[in-house]
Amino acid sequence: MKIRSGRLDKEMTDEAAEFTSSLEADKEIFYADIKCNFAHTTMLKQESIIDSDIADKILNALLQLKEEGYSVLNFDPSVEDIHMAIENYVTSIVGPDAGFMHTAKSRNDQVATDIRIVLREKIRDIQLNILDFIDDLVDMADNYKESVFIGFTHLQHAQPITIAHHLMAHVQVLKRDYERLDDTYKRVNLNPLGSAAMTTTSFPINRDLTTKLLGFDGYLENSMDGVSARDFAAEAIFDLSSLCTTLSKICEELILWSTYEFSVIRMDDAYCSTSSIMPQKKNPDVAEVARSKATRVNGELVTVLTMLKALPYTYNRDLQEITPHLWNSFYESNAVLSIVSKMLLSVKFNEDVCLNLAGKNFATATDLADIMVREKKIPFRTAHQIVGRVVNEATVKGMEATDVTSEFVDNVCRELEIHELNLDDELVKSALDPLENVKMRKVPGGPSPEMVTIAMKNIKEFIKKERESKF
Ligand code: ARG
Repeated sequence: MKIRSGRLDKEMTDEAAEFTSSLEADKEIFYADIKCNFAHTTMLKQESIIDSDIADKILNALLQLKEEGYSVLNFDPSVEDIHMAIENYVTSIVGPDAGFMHTAKSRNDQVATDIRIVLREKIRDIQLNILDFIDDLVDMADNYKESVFIGFTHLQHAQPITIAHHLMAHVQVLKRDYERLDDTYKRVNLNPLGSAAMTTTSFPINRDLTTKLLGFDGYLENSMDGVSARDFAAEAIFDLSSLCTTLSKICEELILWSTYEFSVIRMDDAYCSTSSIMPQKKNPDVAEVARSKATRVNGELVTVLTMLKALPYTYNRDLQEITPHLWNSFYESNAVLSIVSKMLLSVKFNEDVCLNLAGKNFATATDLADIMVREKKIPFRTAHQIVGRVVNEATVKGMEATDVTSEFVDNVCRELEIHELNLDDELVKSALDPLENVKMRKVPGGPSPEMVTIAMKNIKEFIKKERESKF
């Protein structure tokens, strides 16, 4: 039986049917739709809304379809979508009684339910991938806890850090990307089924039962919201967009650090290409492509938000056009996550270059000011001024931070008409030594090896807890 044969006098043109069909993207919700129909029919049977024998026939046909798989469906675009294709299949087995399956249910609540079922799986999948990446990244960082490196602000030398502290910064943002998805999951895992077209139904359906059968945490409490809400999809895409931003930033750094000018890392050859004309070239092509592909999800987010902002309540067919962008966002994000994680984990740091950079360019100067405050009780701003002048004069003389002595500092003080500080030379030396400098930063969140070890332990515990409770 054709769905249009009641109200409409003619078939859609082939072009219009193809134009409006969602069958292609609906592949993603095939199993979810069977599950949804199964739960709904089970509920109709239990509540004696439909005849038990008919319900059983429908349920068996659905099980058969699950076995046989997507390919047995009729893909003619005139079928419109997966819901119609599945109903047609069940009808081909059960006969017209298959129509009872559609009692108290609309494709509007059905598709919203299917999307949420698939989306929650995709969220958990990508969360697991992030968790694995974090886990490996912490292990990588563990090798570099005492490896001094330079930290940048404004992409100018700022203060010494360790390679581990830098990698652990990536870990923290990835953890937030993970947690954001977790938060979204709560809003995704709610059941719209029972909203029917938009106002529920007069049949005495049992929404608690379908909620339980479909593994949702609860049901949506407004049927109009139930069929039309897609903010959960936009939210998930935003989470992925944020993840891709994190990954793109990693790529950006790898590209920068692998330049001859930085020479901070060696990229694994497996993630580089050469030039067709310049035989010496080793180009970070994978990082560059990943940096750009990460942008695609931003496009998907804008597309979806723009579609949503123009929709009056309740269901509009525009909603169908949102779904492929949701699936594509996961496809793109997983691809970028997979390659960027492998690429970063295969990077080797040039530790001697990193250490050397940390000692250059007066990156340790803040600590020289700090010991003036600590030891001589002079205000930080005055100390800042003295050290600024020390750096200025030392630079003119071609000195490095480690050449600065207490006497040098006092000469500068005299020029500035500030009393001499007479700092302990040993203290000056250790403040200006990059490794000592890093070790002194042992407040929570700091780069000292002991603090980074604590941060690593906390993350490992987090990973363990998440794995045990969610996967
Ligand atoms: N293919 C549609 C979608 O994805 C299913 C719902 C169709 N509902 C309707 N009233 N035409 O949104």
